[in-house]
Amino acid sequence: MIVLDRVSFSYGARRVLRDVSVSIGFGERVVILGGSGEGKTTILRLILGLLSPDAGRILIEGEDITGKGDGALRDVRMKFSIVFQEGALFDSLDVKENVAYCLREYTSMSDEEIEARVREILASVGVEQAIHLMPEELSGGMHRRVSIARALALSTPKMFLYDEPTTGLDPVNADNICRLIADLSKDGKGFIMVTHKVSDALKVADRYIFLKDGALLFDGTGRELLHSDIPGIRVFVAEVCPPGPDCAEEQGGKHV
Ligand SMILES: Nc1ncnc2c1ncn2[C@@H]1O[C@H](COP(=O)(O)OP(=O)(O)OP(=O)(O)O)[C@@H](O)[C@H]1O
Ligand SMILES: [Mg+2]
Repeated sequence: MIVLDRVSFSYGARRVLRDVSVSIGFGERVVILGGSGEGKTTILRLILGLLSPDAGRILIEGEDITGKGDGALRDVRMKFSIVFQEGALFDSLDVKENVAYCLREYTSMSDEEIEARVREILASVGVEQAIHLMPEELSGGMHRRVSIARALALSTPKMFLYDEPTTGLDPVNADNICRLIADLSKDGKGFIMVTHKVSDALKVADRYIFLKDGALLFDGTGRELLHSDIPGIRVFVAEVCPPGPDCAEEQGGKHV
């Protein structure tokens, strides 16, 4: 269980989160929605201990990580695989070496073992054929998949964290990534996906948290999200669900 207990956070004078409390189980499939700059990425950074709250506490499986140093946080971070918003790959390394990087750095696996593991992971995200390509030769969708592969390489996490995994992708590639995210959570492993794309969010998650003005404006199911009459949320869901009586019932196509 991940617990944010009355967490407040500012970057200097810029207050991003105020008094946020929320609990998320490791097996849950959660989407954090919100406009640009509302603090979505900041929440992921706080969960990983990359930032520390100004007030409040963060508990990961009962352990209070608030204010702990990198050494103490290593085990906590190993519980997660994160795909960062930029999904940055090393430009000078090919796909194989990008995915192998952490294996070379943190394990004593042989070259053969590393190659086998890299091939296995690339196959699991459907880009095995790209193994010898350079990042600049990848399409946006492949780039995102390789980023996910790299996040998967080292650990078998308890939970995935995805920051805007479909942003900037065409609808087909975005849909493929959603499918991959759904597949990776098939064995009951949860995720937190941060996005502002409601249409993609609705394909993968069971629980939706909406951030606005530093607070949780909404925490509920997809159905409740689509039925919400909170004005800030109506604007957001209008993309997939224009005002009208039946839209929420018609939403289908979930990748489960
Ligand atoms: N390192 C930083 N220093 C100062 N301000 C920052 C820093 N990182 C983020 N901010 C500010 O904090 C606010 C929240 O940022 P955050 O990245 O969490 O937003 P977000 O919801 O992920 O936005 P987006 O959808 O654009 O990715 C923004 O106003 C941003 O400009
Ligand atoms: Mg962000």
